[in-house]
Amino acid sequence: MMNIPPELLAILRKVERVASLTGAGVSQESGLRTFRDSQDGLWSKYDPTELATPEAFARDPKLVWDWYAWRREAIKGARPNAGHYALVQMESKILDFTLITQNVDGLHRFAGSENIYELHGNINRVRCSICRTFAEVWEEDTEVVPQCKQCGGLLRPDVVWFGEALPQGELEAAARASKASQVFLSIGTSGVVQPAASLARAAQANGAILIEINAEATPLTPQVDYFFQGKSGEVLPELVQAIWGK
Ligand code: APR
Repeated sequence: MMNIPPELLAILRKVERVASLTGAGVSQESGLRTFRDSQDGLWSKYDPTELATPEAFARDPKLVWDWYAWRREAIKGARPNAGHYALVQMESKILDFTLITQNVDGLHRFAGSENIYELHGNINRVRCSICRTFAEVWEEDTEVVPQCKQCGGLLRPDVVWFGEALPQGELEAAARASKASQVFLSIGTSGVVQPAASLARAAQANGAILIEINAEATPLTPQVDYFFQGKSGEVLPELVQAIWGK
């Protein structure tokens, strides 16, 4: 059993505004690799941080498209884990609970979370790289990248690539919720990618208690008020159980 300080439990039992930031670690127990893990088989020779860029897409759109098609297939077979479901429970217990995620896999929504801001988009959505029109259907087995029906531009996943701006509305809402939060949870994220990483600091600067749950210490760890080391699929259900019981 985890050792949760009684004073923290008392706070969590009556907290009204919580913001939570999740990263790839939350989906690790659903069988999805984190961004910084090495990859299997076919794609092992590519560095994901060099495929998820506008430059890579400009240079070799088919390569980038195929990598996302492969990731989309892996995600299709994935199911939420106990960590995702614990966050759904938290949302049902806490008056104002905001879930901010850097994940593009859609597993939080699949699990049943509702108040979500997807800072990095969603891999299951596809849009035109030129006119931004969304595409509902597209041909997958083609020699070339499928094209936009409106303008003929190449389709791309509706995710945020390295070097691209985050969706402004989502980011502003996430920043507002972070600043207003009394407790901020940082879960399964390496905390190195900005501006998402700065949300935790903004929350803390506004008086929030900062809690981190991660399999390993991160650059954020020295600044948090409470650090629970472990898998989110284990730590989160334990936390929920300790706060509210079964
Ligand atoms: N439970 C909790 N934490 C875990 C688990 C787990 N089961 N497995 C791994 N972790 C932690 C790792 O220790 C690491 O700190 O999850 C973090 C995963 O880090 P990254 O792969 O860097 O993922 P993330 O922080 O989400 O990356 C942010 O960067 O690569 C871009 O756009 C991509 O959304 C991604 C963003």
